[in-house]
Amino acid sequence: MPVHYTELGLVNTKELFQKANEGKYAIPGFNFNNMEQLQAIIMACVECNSPVILQISKGARQYANQTLLRYMVPGAVQMAREMGSNIPIVLNLDHGDSFELCKSCIDNGFSNVMIDGSHLPYEENVALTRKVVEYAHDHGVTVEGELGVLAGIEEHVVAERSHYTRPEEVEDFVARTGVDSLAISIGTSHGAYKFKLKPGEPFPELRFDILEEVQRRLPGFPIVLHGASSVLQEYVDIINRYGGKLENTAGVPEDQIRRAIQLGVRKVNIDSDGRLVFTAMVRKYLAEHPEEFDPRKYLGPAREELKKMYVEKCKLLGSAGKA
Ligand code: G3H
Ligand code: 13P
Ligand code: ZN
Repeated sequence: MPVHYTELGLVNTKELFQKANEGKYAIPGFNFNNMEQLQAIIMACVECNSPVILQISKGARQYANQTLLRYMVPGAVQMAREMGSNIPIVLNLDHGDSFELCKSCIDNGFSNVMIDGSHLPYEENVALTRKVVEYAHDHGVTVEGELGVLAGIEEHVVAERSHYTRPEEVEDFVARTGVDSLAISIGTSHGAYKFKLKPGEPFPELRFDILEEVQRRLPGFPIVLHGASSVLQEYVDIINRYGGKLENTAGVPEDQIRRAIQLGVRKVNIDSDGRLVFTAMVRKYLAEHPEEFDPRKYLGPAREELKKMYVEKCKLLGSAGKA
């Protein structure tokens, strides 16, 4: 049975981005795959009164079962309301790769979909994105498109100039597709290994010149930054201290996230930092309590730490207090 997002208590991104533009802050796009992550996101955003974009990837749908995952979301909305909070909550498909997947999500209560045609030749990206926008807008659902390809995790992003967004394409893309927000590639990448750094080498600057040029061509248009985890070192250290093996990790420094927001980024996607926090706390708990085997005992502290991290992210993005 198709369900519309308004029946689930969700909103699309339109008003959120308008307000974020006026207030010059960014909305968090937090990915989740399981109940504890979803609880932590909601508890954090309720606590700091932040609007939030919940994100489900294709892989998350496969992992958790698409029906179960989608039914958890109205439960999370209800939980927020029972906590006395009216924060706006968006449900977004992260990195949709086909019209059929986007349609399935729209028909099942998502209020925003991302269609990621960034790897396609330009005209094919336009055509696919346009097709998704037509179906989505007919249902009141907003759409995020992407121009420019994020570097793969093993590549040295600075050397991969061809992957960056070409600012000269953005006006045409937005006009012809009708997208509501645009993800761009300015040097970030997904995962915990964003930059290959030699010992002592500083983090490279993101390509703020590209972001500035995009802003000049599309003043006030909501820009999305993927791959925006900072890869928080304190949690990498805990993971390694308790038997993990994460070497040469590197993320986006917080001052560069702030600068990107000043230059017009209105949605910041964070998944890896959540994975790191969760893994760190589970490893620590199990190492310190080898006798425990009740998942609630080790998932509970992980959820609590995750919540704290999400509160800090909302403060960093400026969305705290803006619900
Ligand atoms: O953009 C990538 C997100 O971090 C989702 O990752 O496809 O492993 O769920 P995933
Ligand atoms: P990170 O891997 O940096 O958390 O990026 C997540 C993301 O962009 C989800 O779409
Ligand atoms: Zn992404």
